[in-house]
Amino acid sequence: LDNGLGQSPPMGWNSWNRYTCDINETVILNNAKAMKETGLLELGYNHIIMDDCWSKRQRDPETGKIVPDPEKFPNGLEDMIEKIHNMGFKFGMYSSAGKYTCAGYPGSLDYEEIDAKTFADWKIDYLKYDNCFNQGRSGTPLISYQRYEAMSEALNKTGRPIFYALCQWGEDQVWNWASTVANSWRITGDIYDSFDRYDIRCPCETYDCPSLQGYHCSIMNIVNKATPLAQKTGPNSGWSDMDMLEIGNGGMTYDEYLTHFTMWAVLKSPLILGNDVSNMSPEHLALVSNFDVIAVHQDVSAPANRIWKKPFVDSFVHLFSGALSNGDWVVAIVNEATVPLVEMSIPFSDIFFDNRDNAKFAWTAKDLWTKETITAARHLTVDVVPHGTQVWRLQKSTHNSHNSNYWTGHN
Ligand code: GLA
Repeated sequence: LDNGLGQSPPMGWNSWNRYTCDINETVILNNAKAMKETGLLELGYNHIIMDDCWSKRQRDPETGKIVPDPEKFPNGLEDMIEKIHNMGFKFGMYSSAGKYTCAGYPGSLDYEEIDAKTFADWKIDYLKYDNCFNQGRSGTPLISYQRYEAMSEALNKTGRPIFYALCQWGEDQVWNWASTVANSWRITGDIYDSFDRYDIRCPCETYDCPSLQGYHCSIMNIVNKATPLAQKTGPNSGWSDMDMLEIGNGGMTYDEYLTHFTMWAVLKSPLILGNDVSNMSPEHLALVSNFDVIAVHQDVSAPANRIWKKPFVDSFVHLFSGALSNGDWVVAIVNEATVPLVEMSIPFSDIFFDNRDNAKFAWTAKDLWTKETITAARHLTVDVVPHGTQVWRLQKSTHNSHNSNYWTGHN
């Protein structure tokens, strides 16, 4: 969608994963304050997004407008939004392209223009637009597309720049048409705070299959689903949304959360925190504050590609690589197995799969977690803990022409 937004994927915080319907002014403002005090706002996490359950059950019978719940927002929603803007954030909110939201509050179907105008009057900057109670769920792609396009046009008419995030879980092959109406689009059912445990009914990884509401997807399900869809995203089209982060919610180990964060960044999903930021361990805070990983995520370039996925003991090892806008490369190795990966040699000819000339040079490789820098030629040697990820940023070595590391390309 050409609305001037989303050259790189958005960052921020959303209330759903941690609080579900248990939201109010205090919860949202406390998290916004914590985002600022911890330095996360300054690092780029600049959206505060309020998810489902913010309104009364009925629209105003006279104006047809959705009414914020006065018990949850005793000072009014506009007052809260102003406070959030004054702290330096953008404000995001939630509605649905159906008769009701997923939790049964009024949705925007047939009220697109009234709601877009109301949201713009409240000065929102981001809209997450869900897919429940849509009266056409098993219908044609046209029906789904039309419902999402109607809100896209209504938002455009308001004249206010509003990032438009589809929460259409992959039904109707959303990735094939979403970039014409939106800035990002969900590709799976809801995330599950687990590395590889998942709902067995979940068709999360099947390219053709819809991922339906209520079917939960593990981190590795979502990575596998997002990988082929990376081709459909980029700075001039929009972004696959791998769903909000679970870091800090307790279901995964540190190494698993590290994989979660690294892969969401490298595959360029929106990075939307989904935990209680006011009560976050220093370890998890440091994890989501990794400047080098965020720099890769925010670079104006396409997501990395998966070069291969190879069987390893009880699972797989995955290699991802991708070019960044200044000629650097990002390389990530995911160890999905439960045993350590020790000294695996990854040839440059794999890393630079479609750019073999690059394989002839020596590269300075910075490990974005340990911050260690080495100069490498021909290959990288990797060690990855179980369920962990090693990620490097590669920069062409400045010493290439005089350096014994320079490789002339004879195999
Ligand atoms: C759906 C979405 C979630 C959340 C809930 C709210 O399940 O996928 O992210 O917004 O609805 O009810």
